[in-house]
Amino acid sequence: MVELIQMEGRQAWLKRYGDGGSRALSLGALDFIAQRMGMGPLRPPPHRVGGEALDTEARRLGELAAQHVHVPQVLGRGKDSLVLSDNGRSLAGWLRDARDEEGCDRLVRLALQAIGQAHATGAYFGQPLPRNMTFDGRRIGFIDFEEDPLEVMDLAQAQARDWLMFGYGVARYYEQRPEALQALMQEAMSGETRDVNAQTHQVTGRLQRLAAVCNRLGRRARRLSHAVLVLHSATTLSVLVIGTLAIDWFSDGDLDVLRLLVG
Ligand SMILES: Nc1ncnc2c1ncn2[C@@H]1O[C@H](COP(=O)(O)OP(=O)(O)O)[C@@H](O)[C@H]1O
Ligand SMILES: [Mg+2]
Repeated sequence: MVELIQMEGRQAWLKRYGDGGSRALSLGALDFIAQRMGMGPLRPPPHRVGGEALDTEARRLGELAAQHVHVPQVLGRGKDSLVLSDNGRSLAGWLRDARDEEGCDRLVRLALQAIGQAHATGAYFGQPLPRNMTFDGRRIGFIDFEEDPLEVMDLAQAQARDWLMFGYGVARYYEQRPEALQALMQEAMSGETRDVNAQTHQVTGRLQRLAAVCNRLGRRARRLSHAVLVLHSATTLSVLVIGTLAIDWFSDGDLDVLRLLVG
């Protein structure tokens, strides 16, 4: 639970790390499928709760700050809560309010650059969705680090995961212009290592195959994101794949499609 508070005349965020709901079953299913299908970057990191989640978040915030990534400062710490400095308004809010395509592209390009720059220093995020990113009018920032992907994958896979997450997160703003998103992603990913591009390409290729199966399963399963197609072409410099296939392949790390596949 996160609450906006005032501290010494400034805005800050009180984040409590409660018990959380158990998602063990769906996360286990996703892990099984991600491993079976050779999609390492989609393996869910252990879902920590309470003090363990707090410790993970505090540790990750420290690591990222040391890598010069714009993340909140830890202003206070209790048994099951942290007080974090305000990192700016959520990128999701900015994107919702963007007046036109140009405004949207400008924000997405800044966000992609911030991800690429952080990766170049060896950083990784885990869930860089627009709601877990911030913008203060100047700098793109990142929040929400209760889970650490490096517990279940290597750095190249974790960085590939970031591109997949971000691509998925912004796909909804590019339903009418997937080629514009592809161009932006391609530009940003050109600075990535061969390994990260190969990992991203492999996952999106396999998701496309999964999408084909889902296609036969019905309407709900058919809602896979453009991100899959957009990223796949962004990582090959090959043909432009403009998919009208809408695939909702995960929300918050959970694969809807996969939940469907397993029952
Ligand atoms: N330090 C912060 N700066 C700005 N906004 C924040 C901050 N911490 C949390 N928020 C806001 O609260 C929301 C939820 O916080 P988050 O850390 O993502 O927790 P959750 O684990 O519940 O997703 C974010 O999407 C963002 O809008
Ligand atoms: Mg969040």
